[in-house]
Amino acid sequence: MPSVEGAAPRRAALRLLDSVLRRGQTLDAAASSLRDLSHADHGLALAIAGEALRRLPDLDALIDSATRQRMPDDSKARMVLRLALAQKIGLGTPDHALVATALPLVDGGPRRLVHGVLGTLLRRGVRPIDAPRLPAEVEARWSAAWGEDSLKAARRQIAKRPPLDLTFAADDEAQSYVDGHEGISLAPRHVRLASSSVTDLAGFDSGRWWVQDLAASLPARLIPAGPSDVLDLCAAPGGKTMQLAAAGHRVTAVDASKSRLARLGENLDRTHLQARLVQADALAWNSDRQFDAILLDAPCSATGTFRRHPEVLYRARANLITEGAALQGVLLDRAATWLKPGGVLVYSVCSLEPQEGEQVITAFLARSPDFRLDQPNGLPGFAPVSSEGWVRILPGLLEPEGGLDGFFMARLVRTG
Ligand SMILES: C[S@@+](CC[C@H](N)C(=O)[O-])C[C@H]1O[C@@H](n2cnc3c(N)ncnc32)[C@H](O)[C@@H]1O
Repeated sequence: MPSVEGAAPRRAALRLLDSVLRRGQTLDAAASSLRDLSHADHGLALAIAGEALRRLPDLDALIDSATRQRMPDDSKARMVLRLALAQKIGLGTPDHALVATALPLVDGGPRRLVHGVLGTLLRRGVRPIDAPRLPAEVEARWSAAWGEDSLKAARRQIAKRPPLDLTFAADDEAQSYVDGHEGISLAPRHVRLASSSVTDLAGFDSGRWWVQDLAASLPARLIPAGPSDVLDLCAAPGGKTMQLAAAGHRVTAVDASKSRLARLGENLDRTHLQARLVQADALAWNSDRQFDAILLDAPCSATGTFRRHPEVLYRARANLITEGAALQGVLLDRAATWLKPGGVLVYSVCSLEPQEGEQVITAFLARSPDFRLDQPNGLPGFAPVSSEGWVRILPGLLEPEGGLDGFFMARLVRTG
């Protein structure tokens, strides 16, 4: 059979969607197994799968509206239709190309069904979806935790590609970069640009900046000015390590993952910054001394990163969140033992689940009489401090400027 132009990236997108939805992989992990694709096709495959994941419930509703045949969630026909509609809505692919590239994906299978549904929908006209629904489980959790306005903001945000945030080692350089690149700065050492290719941006090779969502840059800003002896626990790939090192701290960066720690090393080399790297499981590792300050950016469901990684919404099932919260509590207990009396412990997660943020800190404080919440000074004015004294970043914050990842952070001080 002659190969259809553009078939390879569509076939790859189908594999990606399948790996995420049926096997619970991240898009990046699934994409790393794609071989024999050009750089452009690799990017297109990721873009198509990503656009489908941004609006899956609405795509499914469209598909179901065009057939009486019940297609199982993980059927190939439904996967192929999702990808075709995602290209129409998210990438503006012309109709003839959609049909020509979708049908070979179901060769020897339900070709007539896919052709029929796609034809019906394209004739009917497929409109943009400005505020796609999120998976039902996530909608229920977030509307209960944060209310309808935050949920609506999350729906608006998932439809859009977020801007590109850079953190600079030095604020004067950030300010001159803003002037030269039509960016905006929303905090010291921060530059926000419309999304573009990172490695093509001026200053990448010379290591003047690194990519870091503005919300992800906030926890390290809570470590008091030094220089001091700081433990960065769960550090890789090192956005926060670089902030701490650039601020002049002596940083010990611990992470369990060899490959992620290697990336941290490369990031430090590129930015000419220094830290002591330790590859270790924090549940088994023990420190030989106590630190002036500790940053624990704990592993979590990462649901706050849904704008760049829409698949997190499908991976973060209730049991994974519960397991994450248990691990976070244990990591916090261990970190607490490595802090000097009077020292500061910052806890953060890129999660929009109260179970991994507010509830972890509440439980920790209840069992740790030597710790209390400390006023989170040092953050830009837009960061909302709750009445309890922690910081919760929700969808909708700074929306006109391009928004932020969802985050939770708290600063604790050891009193005894
Ligand atoms: C949220 S990421 C950290 C991001 C990092 N702080 C940054 O700013 O780039 C969580 C990290 O925790 C690490 N991790 C997970 N479980 C761990 C454990 N038991 N001990 C040490 N590191 C762990 C993961 O490898 C991952 O790199």
